[in-house]
Parts: sequence; C-alpha cells; structure tokens
Amino acid sequence: MQNLEITKEKCLNCRNCSLCDTRKNVVFGVGNESSPIVFVGEAPGENEDIEGIPFVGAAGKFFDKYLLAVDIPRDDVYICNILKCRPPKNRDPKPEEEDACLPWLREQIKAINPKVIICLGRIAASRLIGPDFKITRDHGKWFDKGNFKMCAVYHPSALLRDPSKKVAMLEDMIEIAKVYKELKV
Ligand code: URA
Repeated sequence: MQNLEITKEKCLNCRNCSLCDTRKNVVFGVGNESSPIVFVGEAPGENEDIEGIPFVGAAGKFFDKYLLAVDIPRDDVYICNILKCRPPKNRDPKPEEEDACLPWLREQIKAINPKVIICLGRIAASRLIGPDFKITRDHGKWFDKGNFKMCAVYHPSALLRDPSKKVAMLEDMIEIAKVYKELKV
C-alpha cells in the first residue's frame, strides 16, 4: 500500500514521454490496492484525462455493466491502463510511449501482487500477453505467466462499435468472475 502511494506520487510528476505536454491529468489507477485481480486497459480517453480516473467515460460506464452483471464490485478490484496519459485525439499509443510508461505498471503490479491480470482490449493484450496475441482468436483464453494468470477480453469501446461481440464478452466475464470468486475464498 505504502509502495503504491510512493509510486503514484512519482508517476503524477512523470515527464518520461511527450504526452506529459498535452495531458490534463495523469490517470494512475483506481480501486482495491490488495485486489487479487487487476484490469488493464489501453490509455485514458477525454473523460479520464479530465477526471484523472480510468474508465469513467462511455467505454468505462459500459464496462461497469459487465462487472455488475457478473457480480464483481468495481471497488473490489484494481483498474489501470498501459498508458497513464491520454494520447491526443485518443490515437493508439506509440511503442515508445508504452516503453516509457510500462515501468509504472510494473511497479503497480509489484505492489498489488495480484493473482490474475485481465487485459481490456488488444493493445494491452499484445503488450502484456505477447505480440502474437489476436483478440478475435484469443479473447477468453488463459495464459500462465509465472506469477499470475492472464486473460484478455474485448475492449469495451470495441463492443460499443460492434455489438455482435457482446455475447463473447459476457461469456468471458462469467469465466473471469468464477476465477475471481475462487481467489476470494
Ligand atoms: N479506454 C481505456 O483503455 N482506458 C480508459 O481508462 C478509458 C478508455
């Protein structure tokens, strides 16, 4: 807990890449700092940049519905992103921005020490699970990564763009909730 506070203080002053010039706020992460499960998205959007909290815009509100549907209280888990600062116009993160930002995520994971990491979307999955990850092929699959199990689901924005993916998302979230509940007993 203490560790994470120190990391956050440092991160809020980060100038490791040029996104620090355009951000309004650093979006460090939110939730239960001893959660056995951590959700990792891509990067803050406009609302997140304004509020300094991940997943509070349209995609976040949509994701909240899935958490509710599978009975995972949002406050019980930890939620953060690969990038802590918003890319202008929500463009995809650049590899050098991910490289500059990943040490923060590593410190977060080290401090929280979760058993499970869930990637929200292809950007987080290809960075954290592996470059060959294909979200349409590999969503919902479990990967053993030594200290933790990892899985990826569709990004909530992808579901808003393509509602045909919603069934798969619910199925994946049901499996994730089962794993989560086993971890909690
Ligand atoms: N999309 C993300 O990947 N993260 C957020 O925090 C908001 C939207």
